[in-house]
Amino acid sequence: MFVCINGTIVKAREAKISVFDQGFLYGDGVYETLRTYGGSVFQMDEHMQRLGSSVKTLKMAESFDVAKVEKWIVKLVKKNGYKESRVRVQVTRGENGFDFGEGKRLNVVIMAERLKDLDPSIYEKGVDVMTIDGSRLRAKVKSTSLLPMIVARQEAADVGAFEAIFVKDGWVKEGSISNVFVVKGDVIFTPKKGVLLGITRDLVVRLVRKLGLKVLEGDFTKRKLYNADEVFITSSVKGMIPVKKVDGRKIGHGRPGSITKNLMAAFHDYTAKKAR
Ligand code: PDD
Repeated sequence: MFVCINGTIVKAREAKISVFDQGFLYGDGVYETLRTYGGSVFQMDEHMQRLGSSVKTLKMAESFDVAKVEKWIVKLVKKNGYKESRVRVQVTRGENGFDFGEGKRLNVVIMAERLKDLDPSIYEKGVDVMTIDGSRLRAKVKSTSLLPMIVARQEAADVGAFEAIFVKDGWVKEGSISNVFVVKGDVIFTPKKGVLLGITRDLVVRLVRKLGLKVLEGDFTKRKLYNADEVFITSSVKGMIPVKKVDGRKIGHGRPGSITKNLMAAFHDYTAKKAR
């Protein structure tokens, strides 16, 4: 497997980054996780735009050339040659001794690994999720400071849940690595404030409107999540996943509902077209 460091492709086992890199020392970095369909990267422009915006928000550099990063991604995916890839692009502030907060030169690392087969049963039967109190700092930024997410995922794994959903002051926010949607009647709700605006979330919102359904982007309570007719979560790597139970409470009939299934079909059509 090859990786790309600041534009140079090297063998993964020979790749080197300084131990003084602020990403290593402080989790001071931003990232994107992308995947391919039919070998081409899904929603590349949207991911690059978000990466650029994360770099800017954290004042990591005066300017950042996402077009260059995009070329590196395409080159690396081709070099590794997997049928489908999961790509991680990570930008860290670089080195500055122990004076944190500033770096001299960003480090851009790209890893493209073979996309693992996803268990079909999660899409057919749905998954269980748990709620957990908390939220992400600078939520619009996709930051590498993932310790709260790791802890939340460990808690979820301990109770056999697939994902942990953050709830802040009673308001549902997002999953540790996903966005959350609820369906009530013929209206679909998804939080907007204090969450990462997922690339898949954005696409699903557009698909909902295309199907002639109503989508409301805004806050909702944990009670609304429990009482939803249908719930699903989204992410770039796994797409749309139906939720059958939240905190052990059955959602709807305890299996993927009809609106979720229609949206999953529309989502599948979209990605299949991209893969051609
Ligand atoms: N995570 N919210 C959070 C906190 C996330 O980390 C992610 C993605 C999402 C979904 O965003 P998108 O649709 O752009 O993937 C929402 C990725 C999969 C990760 O951490 O690897």
